[in-house]
Amino acid sequence: MAFKVGLLGLGTVGTGTAEILANPAQRHPLLQELEIYRVGVRSLEKPRTVPLASNVLTTDLESIVTDPAVDIVVEVIGGLEPARSLILQAIAHGKHVVTANKAVIARYGDEIFTAATNAGVYVLIEAAVAGGIPVIEPLKQSLCANRLYTVTGIVNGTTNYILTRMQTEGSDFDTVLADAQRLGYAEADPTADVDGFDAADKIAILASLAFGGRIKLPEVHREGIRQITAADIAYADKLGFVIKLLATAQRNVEADETINQPDRLQVRVHPTLLPKTHPLASINGVYNAVLIEGDPIGQVMFFGPGAGSGPTASAVVSDILNIAAILKVERGAAVQPNGQPLLDPLLACSHQH
Ligand code: HSE
Repeated sequence: MAFKVGLLGLGTVGTGTAEILANPAQRHPLLQELEIYRVGVRSLEKPRTVPLASNVLTTDLESIVTDPAVDIVVEVIGGLEPARSLILQAIAHGKHVVTANKAVIARYGDEIFTAATNAGVYVLIEAAVAGGIPVIEPLKQSLCANRLYTVTGIVNGTTNYILTRMQTEGSDFDTVLADAQRLGYAEADPTADVDGFDAADKIAILASLAFGGRIKLPEVHREGIRQITAADIAYADKLGFVIKLLATAQRNVEADETINQPDRLQVRVHPTLLPKTHPLASINGVYNAVLIEGDPIGQVMFFGPGAGSGPTASAVVSDILNIAAILKVERGAAVQPNGQPLLDPLLACSHQH
């Protein structure tokens, strides 16, 4: 095996990731060259659905990020600590890192990307925002020729599910939230989702990528959906609107190039009245979508599953493959995940992040 993966976490996303890595048939050929070398878990006793050799699992997560044999560390444990420290330790030990951790990236992105640049390693974060929807890499690479104006998204599936059901059933917030919790769509403690913290983390990351610099969370205006009533939604509906929790980063197009100032860039999360004809108005249920506007692209929208084991693992494994492709070039064989020759990965926009 050419590339050894150290996986930190075997929860929902970790299990989805391990399932793809363990089943490479009819997927990208580079998957055959990836080995799940170590998996860090909290308990060795817990039954697992992915077949893994007994010597692969360990509760000593630090031993994974410091192991000289590991090429790529994949952090899918979530939360701030020990995730942040483990990512930094992995970087310090020369590992490339893939993480799905929006909370860590939104708060410590500066520290992490600076450390990665200094160490000459990649930190890829496609899974951190909108799960399976490719939006990070397009912002970093495919859209980097544009002067961007706005990034607006429905980036929290839980709140979109709640608002959609309130809209279609005429139910009130508390009833739908309780039902969503019973069905497993909402957490027992729904604060991060319904009060907009999760969306704020995500839009801070997207704004940093789209507009440069690092947007700090206190700069993000945040309001959740707890105060939205069935009557609000019914009145909005009569007037031709839906209510969506939008996360928006908007630059003042009149401003000069120094866009990193509060009056030139607004980043905010709040319930918004959207005309039913708006492209984001018809995004319903747990789905996410991100609408990007710029010059000369005009409007481009990304839509899909913003969470869940498989979709999030799709983004995680794609990041792993992209790193493996770059390592392959460095080791003398040029191929990128789509099978095309990769001329010089260091020229890609992504290198700066
Ligand atoms: N809790 C998030 C959501 C999923 O509801 O969209 C992970 O980001």
